[in-house]
Amino acid sequence: MKIEACAIEKWYFRGKGDTNRFFAVKQTDLTLEPGKVTVLTGRSGSGKTTLMHMLSGLLTPDGGKVLADGKDLYAQEDKALSGFRNAHFGMIPQGADVLPVLTVMENILLVQGIYANQSRNPGADRSVGVQDRAQKLLGEMGIADLADVPAGELSGGERRRVCVARALAGTPDVIFADEPTSDLDDENMQIVLQMLKKAADEGAAVLIVTHDQEALDYADVCLKMHAGVPGPAVQTEDREAPSCQEGGAGSDLQIV
Ligand SMILES: Nc1ncnc2c1ncn2[C@@H]1O[C@H](COP(=O)(O)OP(=O)(O)OP(=O)(O)O)[C@@H](O)[C@H]1O
Ligand SMILES: [Mg+2]
Repeated sequence: MKIEACAIEKWYFRGKGDTNRFFAVKQTDLTLEPGKVTVLTGRSGSGKTTLMHMLSGLLTPDGGKVLADGKDLYAQEDKALSGFRNAHFGMIPQGADVLPVLTVMENILLVQGIYANQSRNPGADRSVGVQDRAQKLLGEMGIADLADVPAGELSGGERRRVCVARALAGTPDVIFADEPTSDLDDENMQIVLQMLKKAADEGAAVLIVTHDQEALDYADVCLKMHAGVPGPAVQTEDREAPSCQEGGAGSDLQIV
């Protein structure tokens, strides 16, 4: 599935009154292609999570549109949008949020067991296949033995890996990974990045927001966001990137 952002923006008011408006994301064009890993870096507060939330149907833009295979994501009713997100998107949230009283596998099935992904997994009985796949993913990340443990008992890095398994278990068409490797040691960081790359090789569009430079080695497209007012729309830096795309006019995305 292709995700296209057309001039999306988000603003907030800060401080007292409603005059102090600032743009968390300003006039951004961005395309996520099936089969490609896009890595988005940038300083803390530069708007990466805000952008990812708008692309993934979680946050309505104040301007512009998000298209999923040409369909206006936010033209749908709330319930339809939730169903669409569950059927097509896998999300690794920055906060590695899990429900603490449920076990690891229950956390995964809660999200994955409800809606069938018809597009990349046609005819699959989700409730059967997802559990096996989740168990395998947990095993690849060295936490197979935690499947029946309450998620509230896990370390930060273990929770992060559960979120990775939860996002990938349903073979989503688009994967939104917000700092999927923070809290992880080098070995697990590489494992998670390889898993995300593999998902792209199998056809998913993958967006990784990260502060870890290692992720750039897995990128087909590299982008950088700038804090505050937008600088030049596009600048090329020394680092050689496999391929790059431009932000829209006034965008604070930068090629790295
Ligand atoms: N709900 C909100 N209300 C007001 N301001 C917000 C809101 N959400 C985000 N912001 C502001 O928008 C800006 C961008 O935030 P965002 O979370 O997108 O940054 P980020 O690049 O993901 O940062 P980090 O790397 O620290 O996760 C920040 O200045 C933040 O304070
Ligand atoms: Mg963030």
